[in-house]
Amino acid sequence: MAPNLKLSWLLFSLIFFISIAISVAELCNPADKKVLLTIKKAFNNPYVLSSWDPKQDCCTWYSVDCHPTTHRVISLIILADDKISGQIPPDVGDLPFLQTLMLHKLPNLTGPIQPTIANLRHLKSLDLSWNNLSGSLPSFLGSLKNLTLLNLSFNNLTGTIPSSLSQLPNLGSLHLDRNKLTGQIPDSFGYFEGEIPYLYLSHNELSGKIPASLSKMDFNVVSLARNRLEGGAWMLFGANKTTQIVDLSRNLLEFNLSEVVFPRSLTTLDLNHNKIFGSIPVAMTELTFQLNVSYNRLCGQIPVGGRLQSFDLSSYFHNKCLCGAPLGSCKG
Ligand SMILES: *[C@@H]1O[C@H](CO)[C@@H](O)[C@H](O)[C@H]1NC(C)=O
Ligand SMILES: *[C@@H]1O[C@H](CO)[C@@H](O)[C@H](O)[C@H]1NC(C)=O
Ligand SMILES: *[C@@H]1O[C@H](CO)[C@@H](O)[C@H](O)[C@H]1NC(C)=O
Ligand SMILES: *[C@@H]1O[C@H](CO)[C@@H](O)[C@H](O)[C@H]1NC(C)=O
Ligand SMILES: *[C@@H]1O[C@H](CO)[C@@H](O)[C@H](O)[C@H]1NC(C)=O
Ligand SMILES: *[C@@H]1O[C@H](CO)[C@@H](O)[C@H](O)[C@H]1NC(C)=O
Ligand SMILES: *[C@@H]1O[C@H](CO)[C@@H](O)[C@H](O)[C@H]1NC(C)=O
Ligand SMILES: *[C@@H]1O[C@H](CO)[C@@H](O)[C@H](O)[C@H]1NC(C)=O
Repeated sequence: MAPNLKLSWLLFSLIFFISIAISVAELCNPADKKVLLTIKKAFNNPYVLSSWDPKQDCCTWYSVDCHPTTHRVISLIILADDKISGQIPPDVGDLPFLQTLMLHKLPNLTGPIQPTIANLRHLKSLDLSWNNLSGSLPSFLGSLKNLTLLNLSFNNLTGTIPSSLSQLPNLGSLHLDRNKLTGQIPDSFGYFEGEIPYLYLSHNELSGKIPASLSKMDFNVVSLARNRLEGGAWMLFGANKTTQIVDLSRNLLEFNLSEVVFPRSLTTLDLNHNKIFGSIPVAMTELTFQLNVSYNRLCGQIPVGGRLQSFDLSSYFHNKCLCGAPLGSCKG
């Protein structure tokens, strides 16, 4: 063999062996791998986790993501599987660099919100929605300062809403809807420390008055439907807000609609099934929105103009003495 051919052969072999060595090298942190295998075992080795093979690099496993340089596990996302049964294993608290934890649509996932989640200081997104979790909302959630998303909706959670949640400075979206939460909306929800989150509290058993402190907030979306809230709702409105969607349907709210000033930004206002009285304010003709005020105690003529005549009559029906198009004409 000519010397330069020999050299290139040597070089070729070297590159070949290096690339094999790299493909075999474990990037996954061994401690993280151990924890993930414990979690797999706790979930009874479900099929959805069959790629979690101890012989493979855990950063390549399905549902797992690692940091590009540190190779620590930063994301665990397990979706839609009814074979995963039991409780959230305490071991999730031993993935110290986790930023995203999503256990979603696991109908046989039961038990409490695992207390060791409190250890996950880097958590940005906690989505445990559509499971069958029970027990109360732990107040430690308010100390996970980097949370931008907290979604616990569609579970079986009970007890009151911890006031500490308003201390999450980066929270963009708070979904606690479709549980069995009781008590009042915390007064602290008028004092969110940073961003004002999209607020979803519907389909619970919340009671009492909406706190007046909420007048300080400018929610983009606020959904309080299907609870047992009483009294007024003025604190959610006002000319200076930029709120778009307000759903207060199916509560026990009782206030004079004529006295409320609605922000021009409103796109959806659902007030159906309450005890709202007074009449529809003329200012509503200036709004570009969807409206439903059915099943209340409203009276008087529906003002003519804007979008008010374009709504289906079911937006207005079952009131005390509301009249005018699209309902029947006002008599006398
Ligand atoms: C999960 O729950 C469904 C009913 O909701 C049941 O039919 C199924 O056997 C459960 N699976 C396991 C693994 O427990
Ligand atoms: C909770 O469990 C019940 C009974 O097993 C099931 O019907 C329901 O779909 C589950 N809920 C969710 C949100 O998965
Ligand atoms: C929280 O987020 C900020 C900004 O992204 C980051 O600098 C900080 O290290 C994070 N804190 C934790 C505990 O992860
Ligand atoms: C949170 O849960 C709600 C209700 O299930 C769902 O509509 C919403 O898309 C979820 N949001 C995120 C960001 O996961
Ligand atoms: C929800 O919780 C209630 C009371 O805590 C319990 O009786 C019920 O069985 C739970 N439902 C499911 C689907 O777990
Ligand atoms: C709304 O904003 C205007 C102009 O910034 C201000 O003069 C007025 O006092 C505000 N009204 C309320 C109710 O905050
Ligand atoms: C509602 O408020 C308006 C305006 O302040 C007032 O004229 C009206 O009498 C009130 N209606 C009822 C039923 O209290
Ligand atoms: C308004 O709400 C009522 C009560 O839920 C419902 O029956 C009706 O269809 C709704 N109308 C529109 C236009 O959405």
